[in-house]
Amino acid sequence: MQAITRGNVKIIVTEDPGEMGRQTAGLVAEEMKKNETLVLGLCTGGTAVPIYQELISMYMERTLSFRNATTFNLDEYYPIHPRETSSYYCFMRTELFDYIDITSSNILFPNALSRNPSQACESYESLIQKCGGIDLMLLGIGENAHIGFNEPGTPRTSRTRMVALTEKTRASNSRFFDVLDQVPSHALSMGIATIMDARKIVLSACGAKKAKAIADALEAISTPEVPASYLQEHPDCTFVLDREAALYLL
Ligand code: GLP
Repeated sequence: MQAITRGNVKIIVTEDPGEMGRQTAGLVAEEMKKNETLVLGLCTGGTAVPIYQELISMYMERTLSFRNATTFNLDEYYPIHPRETSSYYCFMRTELFDYIDITSSNILFPNALSRNPSQACESYESLIQKCGGIDLMLLGIGENAHIGFNEPGTPRTSRTRMVALTEKTRASNSRFFDVLDQVPSHALSMGIATIMDARKIVLSACGAKKAKAIADALEAISTPEVPASYLQEHPDCTFVLDREAALYLL
């Protein structure tokens, strides 16, 4: 493991996705031990899997409990039924929630079935406020440096809203669907301002496919064209990478 910094951002470079998962889960556990009513922002995607496996192990070993925690997921396809296997809700159940002691009423998602998506997004923002804001936000990163579903061009002031997915994002997420045509064209996503309001942010990334997005996020000046570059302005942000994703930083 190697610790480096770029401006405000702390960077932990690990050997492989397994160690990335352990390090990220370790940061979650540290916060949960300080505050058992932690409000967690959660991400989905392949990168999250080793993190959630590690959190499940900690719960099984009785070193961590989620009983009093609250979770807000970063995004969800729109429209989609939560029972559909390709929904992010279903992903979270099969990768984490079904194996830990989280209270089901404390699992929160934007309502991807609402006929009024803008109202659903406003309610989601209000709910985050009502819970006192997000203490720790976990993020992945897209190959085009998107965070959540905030694609290049997203303004710093954006809040939870309905967004159109780029063809690149639909293509790279099609691995979770039977065919590309099934990938929804839209999603409900927390905005950049929602994410930046979190008291602490941890972005995790693995693999050579993410190396350019990571380098752009840290090397370029903060720009809407590289949504993850906004994180440079956050006072408490850590990137946990494997060696391949850190390729251009070392
Ligand atoms: C999706 C999610 C993002 C996630 C990204 C990377 O687009 N909306 O929140 O960070 O995928 O996913 P993966 O970890 O599978 O590469």
